[in-house]
Amino acid sequence: QEGAGGSGGKSSDQFSRYGFILAAIGSAVGLGNMWKFPYITGKYGGAAFFLVFIICLIAVGLPVLLAEMAIGRGGRGNASTSMVRLSGKKSWGGFGFISIFGSFMIFSYYAVVAGWTLHYAYLSFTGQLFGGADFGTQFGDFIGGYLPVFYQLLVVLLTAWVVAVGISSGIERFNKILIPGLVVLLILLVIRSLTLDGAGAGVEFFLNPDFSKLSPTAVLVALGHAFFSLSLGMGVMITYGAYVSKQQSLSKAALAVGFGDLLYAFLAGLIIFPTTFAFNLEPAQGPGLVFVVLPTAFEAMPFGALFGGLFFILLAVAALTSAVSLLEVPVAYVMEKWKMSRTKAVWMTAIICFIVGLPSALSVGGAVSGLTFGGKTFFDWMDFLSSNVLLPVGGLVVTLFAGWVWKDAYSEADLTPGWYKVWKFALRWVAPILVVLVLLISSGVISE
Ligand code: PFF
Repeated sequence: QEGAGGSGGKSSDQFSRYGFILAAIGSAVGLGNMWKFPYITGKYGGAAFFLVFIICLIAVGLPVLLAEMAIGRGGRGNASTSMVRLSGKKSWGGFGFISIFGSFMIFSYYAVVAGWTLHYAYLSFTGQLFGGADFGTQFGDFIGGYLPVFYQLLVVLLTAWVVAVGISSGIERFNKILIPGLVVLLILLVIRSLTLDGAGAGVEFFLNPDFSKLSPTAVLVALGHAFFSLSLGMGVMITYGAYVSKQQSLSKAALAVGFGDLLYAFLAGLIIFPTTFAFNLEPAQGPGLVFVVLPTAFEAMPFGALFGGLFFILLAVAALTSAVSLLEVPVAYVMEKWKMSRTKAVWMTAIICFIVGLPSALSVGGAVSGLTFGGKTFFDWMDFLSSNVLLPVGGLVVTLFAGWVWKDAYSEADLTPGWYKVWKFALRWVAPILVVLVLLISSGVISE
């Protein structure tokens, strides 16, 4: 292994070629793919929307993904210092910091939801989920109490432990074990759902194109989701990029990550819709779908406790590999900024994230759920601000930086001269204009 470059002050702890691709896929594939993607696909036109999503992913997502990876490897620093180094201007540090703050915020509540999935896996495997109160009541009772805090702590501790071990023996090894496991679970569950009686109606809902439902809003929803799904705008791919060897082709890595994320989203849709439709259930978005609607289906199918348990483990694994990437972003910053050891930086950041996440854990029906501002709970605000405001702003910063400010991106991107021009054009014009529109819609400045 060659050293990770001296300028960032990082040690030679870095990813192997496949380790990097797996870790980046692990970050991209997460809760977003499981409950948001299938639902918005159904709502905005099925296969027609899926097609638009693919176009957004390729035309805007991939160029920005490559830009983030290249900024990280070129700058060899965290999401803030990488841009300072490459531009020679201190002011970019502040812009880069926006995404670091965003990662920190997403991590704080993402750990809460990941905790719910662990609890449900436990309930399903032990059979406690079935045969009792209806699922809506069960879920309400669970998130209304203090047990979610225990699970949140569990997720934070597990994530922190992986990140503390380091890049190659911690994050890379964790993903190398879990991602193949994820694929096996995914395939098992796709087979299960497609062989259910009445699965066809769900496939139809998911994949039958309805072009009349396509609207300008649908296009922007697809684009916003492409960003969230590829973990863009939050400094993750910049931070991971700093641990990539100079020999690795970043354009190939970006292609692999984009394809992996897309495939996972597609297969998740093939699990969720056939299952909900086979049991005449209403597809919904978010916690309702995963924790209330799907258990009804699992209860009714043969070996439902097993498949339900596997489904929740699948969710938990997908969430954990994303959580690890989210925590690494502020950790890399703290290490560099205060010259702290990795272990110290991890535990300090994790403890603060846990505390900041507490109100989130207790505000979805729990002790502080009555505390709302403008009709939103603390949890809603964290989600809204990070996914709908900070994420597009962070994405905009990256496109403008890579498109207009960073002059010698060529050497990092390893593209042919022709593709390099296409890439620059996407970063200079297509991506920023579209991201501004996404920002205006998702932050509510323009109504849908
Ligand atoms: N990409 C993850 C998902 O689809 O669930 C979520 C995510 C992770 C978003 C990391 C942003 C991020 F920086």
